[in-house]
Amino acid sequence: MNWQLKFLTPSIRPTLEDSMLTRRPRRNRKTAIIRNLVQENRLALDNLIYPIFLMEGTNKKVPIKSMPGIYRFTLDVLIEEIAECLDLGISTFAPFVCLEDNLKDKYATESYNENGLYVSAIRYLKEKFSEICLITDVAMDPYSSDGHDGLVDEGKILNDETLEILAKMAVAQAEAGADIIAPSDMMDGRVGYLRQELDANGFQEVSIMAYTAKYASAFYGPFRDALDSAPRFGDKKTYQMNPANAREALLEAALDYQEGADFMMVKPALAYLDVIQLLKSNFHIPIAAYNVSGEYAMVKAASQLGWLDGERAMVESLLSIKRAGADVILTYFAKEYAQLLKDKE
Ligand code: PBG
Repeated sequence: MNWQLKFLTPSIRPTLEDSMLTRRPRRNRKTAIIRNLVQENRLALDNLIYPIFLMEGTNKKVPIKSMPGIYRFTLDVLIEEIAECLDLGISTFAPFVCLEDNLKDKYATESYNENGLYVSAIRYLKEKFSEICLITDVAMDPYSSDGHDGLVDEGKILNDETLEILAKMAVAQAEAGADIIAPSDMMDGRVGYLRQELDANGFQEVSIMAYTAKYASAFYGPFRDALDSAPRFGDKKTYQMNPANAREALLEAALDYQEGADFMMVKPALAYLDVIQLLKSNFHIPIAAYNVSGEYAMVKAASQLGWLDGERAMVESLLSIKRAGADVILTYFAKEYAQLLKDKE
């Protein structure tokens, strides 16, 4: 072979010594089989968690406008949806609830009502599907007339008073059969407090997936539409993290670890891949990442406009989250990805 690269300008033309190209990375990309052989990361359905939205009523499935392909379901229809997902190989679900305004109050009382929509749905789903794993949401916002994750007093979010409400919620969910409790509220000390209260009530085996580094993000917009859970005043910046900060995530992680978290979550995922990697390399418990509603909506919107290939953008997004270090991924793409795998069979 003529090693001289004639088309290069003389100034950057390699010399004989450094132009032998003994190291040609393209050799490992030359066929699909070899590319697969050396593929470093793979997405398995086992690592995906499907968030699902529950609402009051019967026989309804209401599309969420800003999240094409995602719906709010009444329990009877949700059962069919879950059965379909189980068939496709998805076994872990993160249900969220959408309540009517008349059930919301300052103290989120409905959140620990054992006959309320959410808690009774958990009980029902665990009875109906023996093989299912349920990760339940602990935060006040879906039940709070203020739309905040904590108790509000004169415009301030109270920390320690909120913990008591969160604990009642967690214990009610554990009693109903939740496998993993996921506090998404970002109050200080909640992991330790929930651990203590769960244990005191005999739920040592119920895990905690902490929303460890949850940022005050614009990417939650479509989710808040879905649940009608936007704050009624102000924003969530006094409890959710500043998007500019990464070291602060290490502090949150150290606390959650000490307090007994079984999983640590970073949320959102795509704009925070560095934070996923940071937690992965510093803590030896599973790292979760939440590929949130806005990240889903962006891909869907661009794909509907024909601006990008939605399927490839989905796979690439999920893979990048995995590559950054996420062991498990919460994603609205879970069902579509499972369907894609099945179609390829
Ligand atoms: C709040 C909560 C939020 C999400 C899950 N739980 C958003 C918020 O802080 O308002 C967002 C999930 C998503 O955007 O997909 N407890």
